[in-house]
Amino acid sequence: MAANSEENPSPGSFRLFSSLSDEKPNLNLGFGFFDPSNEPRPSPPPCVEVLSSEVSSSVKYTVEPVNLDGLTLLKGRVRTREVFALSNSDLVPGKYEGGLKLWEGSLDLVKALRSEVVNGNLALKGKRVLELGCGHGLPGIFACLEGAAAVHFQDFNAEVLQCLTIPNVNANRPKRAQPSETNVTSCDTESEVRFFAGDWSEIDKILPHEHGTGDNADFSSGCNPVSGYDVILMAETLYSICVFQNLYELIKKCMSSPHGLMYMAAKKHYFGVGGGTRRFLSVVEKDGLMDFSMVAEVADGSSNVREVWKLSFK
Ligand SMILES: C[S@@+](CC[C@H](N)C(=O)[O-])C[C@H]1O[C@@H](n2cnc3c(N)ncnc32)[C@H](O)[C@@H]1O
Repeated sequence: MAANSEENPSPGSFRLFSSLSDEKPNLNLGFGFFDPSNEPRPSPPPCVEVLSSEVSSSVKYTVEPVNLDGLTLLKGRVRTREVFALSNSDLVPGKYEGGLKLWEGSLDLVKALRSEVVNGNLALKGKRVLELGCGHGLPGIFACLEGAAAVHFQDFNAEVLQCLTIPNVNANRPKRAQPSETNVTSCDTESEVRFFAGDWSEIDKILPHEHGTGDNADFSSGCNPVSGYDVILMAETLYSICVFQNLYELIKKCMSSPHGLMYMAAKKHYFGVGGGTRRFLSVVEKDGLMDFSMVAEVADGSSNVREVWKLSFK
């Protein structure tokens, strides 16, 4: 589903084949055939915590419902042009990473999480949750509504958090609560909600529940049980292979050991741009620290095959 109807990407941007017409190119497209990530990337923006009070009031934000098999969440719509002065672009690597658009993987992830909760495979109540590459943040919002103790949202761009993620959190929470002047807001009376912008290569430095990979972390014995996030979520973050190692190292630094879980939704292959779930899982498998299993496969013809996977420490 392409929730954003913008067409004709500008030079320097690329699309992630979110519609059938985007997908058709040719079956010989393999990893790296055209990978804009091979081009030099600009220095990433600095890592910052974005306060809920820093919500944008200058960019037009309209809200609409999204129905997820009977669960209705609200999502905002803002114009990429208004926020980034980019015309008709899904994504400009290293500058704007696509967070203003709602990608189908995030809807797959919410549905999968809901079914995991219903089937008793996952409890979010009281958990510390991190959503990486959140954009609209619907999976994190779902965790919040399920009673997570803390939900921390990360996006590459602070503007995405200010113009879209924070308003979405506010739109989905009970109306009586208002954003405070502090860095902590709440979309459920129980949940601490915070927002962090920056690149995966260094965002761990400002995430509150990062536990490091040095002497502080012992993945095999679980000697550091109170640190780290209980559940990490991410959707449509696996398109660019050049960031896989940073992303995987970040997950290892942030996921609570030994019982932490990660749920990730993405396309099996992003033809033409190199990434995909399988390519990322080959990095995970090679490292040997984590197990993984498929939670859902979506082959609805609206895009190439999409998958949801669950990862945990061995
Ligand atoms: C295609 S968007 C997906 C947004 C949202 N999860 C969804 O499914 O609708 C990719 C997201 O990954 C994040 N991202 C991509 N590369 C990143 C990087 N190098 N460091 C931090 N975040 C990055 C961006 O924040 C962006 O929102």
